[in-house]
Amino acid sequence: MNIYKKNPPNWSYDSIRTELLYFEKIYSERPIKDNQGGMKYPHMFAFYFILKNINPEFVVESGIWKGQSTWLIEKTLPNANILSLDINLKKREYISSSKRVTYSNKDFINHDFSKIPINSLVFFDDHQNSYERLMQSYFFGFKNVIIDDNYPILHGDTYSLKKIFHRSGLNDERTGFKNLIKALIMILNHYLKKKIDKSYKNEIFKYNLSVQDILPNENHFKNIDKIIETYYEFPPIFKTIETRWGDNWTEEFYPTEKPILDNSYKDKYKKAFEEAKDYNWLCYVKLK
Ligand SMILES: C[S@@+](CC[C@H](N)C(=O)[O-])C[C@H]1O[C@@H](n2cnc3c(N)ncnc32)[C@H](O)[C@@H]1O
Repeated sequence: MNIYKKNPPNWSYDSIRTELLYFEKIYSERPIKDNQGGMKYPHMFAFYFILKNINPEFVVESGIWKGQSTWLIEKTLPNANILSLDINLKKREYISSSKRVTYSNKDFINHDFSKIPINSLVFFDDHQNSYERLMQSYFFGFKNVIIDDNYPILHGDTYSLKKIFHRSGLNDERTGFKNLIKALIMILNHYLKKKIDKSYKNEIFKYNLSVQDILPNENHFKNIDKIIETYYEFPPIFKTIETRWGDNWTEEFYPTEKPILDNSYKDKYKKAFEEAKDYNWLCYVKLK
C-alpha cells in the first residue's frame, strides 16, 4: 500500500533534525507531564515543526483536552491569535491567561470565520470525521489544515484522511455493548430532560454515540483530492518494530515515511523514544 502524496513541502530531514534539538527543551517545559489521551512527543514535535514553518497569524484548535496543545501553539507562535475549541472545557488543566487565546465550547462549524487572515491555520484533534472537517475548512477559506487523528485503515475511531485515501471506510471499533448502552442512555437523558424542562437545550454529537461508521466511498476520495493542494504526513521520530496496537509495523497496513532518527539515538532523545508509539500519521494539508 502506498502513501498518498501531493506536492510535499520542502522540509528536509536535516532541517527537521535541527528543530528536534530545540524542541527537546520545549517539551521538557510542557505543563502537563502525563498527557494520556492527548498528544505526546511525536505529534507535539510534528505540530511544533509545522506551526513554526507555516507561521500563521491565526490558529483554530479543535480539541483541547487538558490544554497541552494550546500551550504549544502559544509557545511556538508568540504573536498569533488562537481560538481554542472543545465541547467539554472542563478537562482543561492548563488554561491560558493570554489575551491572544479565546476559548469556546461551540463546534468549529458554529463560528464566524468570514474575516480570517489569509494564512490562518486550523488544527483538528477532536476525533471528528476528517472528510467533513476538510470540507468545512475549505468552505470557511482555511488554507492550512493539520489533522492529528490520521488513523490507518485497521484502527481508530475516526474517519481519517488515510482511510479515505485507501477507500477503507470506517468500522468504528469502539462499538460494543457498553458503548451502545451509553449511547442509549445519552439519547434517553436528552429526550427526558427536554420533556421535563422546556428550557433545556443541548446538542448530541454523532461521535459520542459511537456510530461514526462510514461505508467505503470512492467519491470521498475524488471530492477531497480536488481541493487538496498539498498533503504531507509528518514522519515518525523513531519507528518501533510493533505499532501502538501491538502488531508488526508492516508497509501493507501501515505505510509510513522513513523515521527521522534511527534507534542509535534512543539515549539522546529518551522521551521521544519512550513515547515513539504515540504516532498517528499527523498530517498537514494545504487547501486550494
Ligand atoms: C484527543 S483530545 C485533544 C488532545 C489535545 N489536543 C492535546 O494534545 O492535549 C480530543 C478532545 O476533543 C474534544 N472534542 C470532541 N468533540 C469535539 C468537537 N466537536 N469539537 C471540539 N472538540 C471536541 C474532546 O472533548 C477532547 O477533549
